[in-house]
Amino acid sequence: MTTHYYTASSLDGFIATADHSLDWLLRQDIDEAGPMAYAGFREGLGAMAMGAHTYEWVMRHDEGGWDYTLPAWVFTHRELDIPDGADIRLTQEDVRAVHGEMVGAAGDKDIWLVGGGELVGRFADAGLIDEVWIQYAPVTLGSGAPVLPRALDLELIDAARNRNFLCGRYRVLRAE
Ligand SMILES: NC(=O)c1ccc[n+]([C@@H]2O[C@H](COP(=O)([O-])OP(=O)(O)OC[C@H]3O[C@@H](n4cnc5c(N)ncnc54)[C@H](OP(=O)(O)O)[C@@H]3O)[C@@H](O)[C@H]2O)c1
Repeated sequence: MTTHYYTASSLDGFIATADHSLDWLLRQDIDEAGPMAYAGFREGLGAMAMGAHTYEWVMRHDEGGWDYTLPAWVFTHRELDIPDGADIRLTQEDVRAVHGEMVGAAGDKDIWLVGGGELVGRFADAGLIDEVWIQYAPVTLGSGAPVLPRALDLELIDAARNRNFLCGRYRVLRAE
């Protein structure tokens, strides 16, 4: 079981503009069945987690609303609306406790941390991230939501080009 942070970033390390726009990302060309794309990544997953702003973005922008079948944990201090039938748990628990619940739900499958960066940083602080996958779009944003605002050492274990994207897969190195 592996815990992944899988996301797309600008070249200067932002996953969204300050006003939560992903227009810079959505206009890029990617082969959804190509190297390191979401379709292949998705197959190994058994659970997912995200912060409230990411959840709200998905609910605003994904056509037809929430279409994930994975059990999902959404970190929030608010009572967010949950679509009928969606397997979503709102939580403000410590990331260690939530990760334990996710491992239990995922069986022998992997965990996807969707973002944002500060929430993923909390998982990193607790030593709970194994891999970081970043699809770099050919833009700089100058400011915005940081991809992972922590100091971590990573080992590059795979790299690919997928149309407009430079894709990197990294293993998180832990202090001995
Ligand atoms: N480029 C990509 O592929 C990609 C991927 C993922 C996300 N995104 C975008 O990046 C942006 C991320 O926004 P963001 O940095 O603000 O991060 P976020 O993690 O999505 O949202 C942060 C909010 O989540 C809640 N939260 C986070 N940690 C919590 C905790 N431990 N306990 C309880 N609540 C917690 C808080 O909301 P409340 O206190 O209001 O409840 C917090 O203000 C979004 O616009 C998203 O759409 C982009």
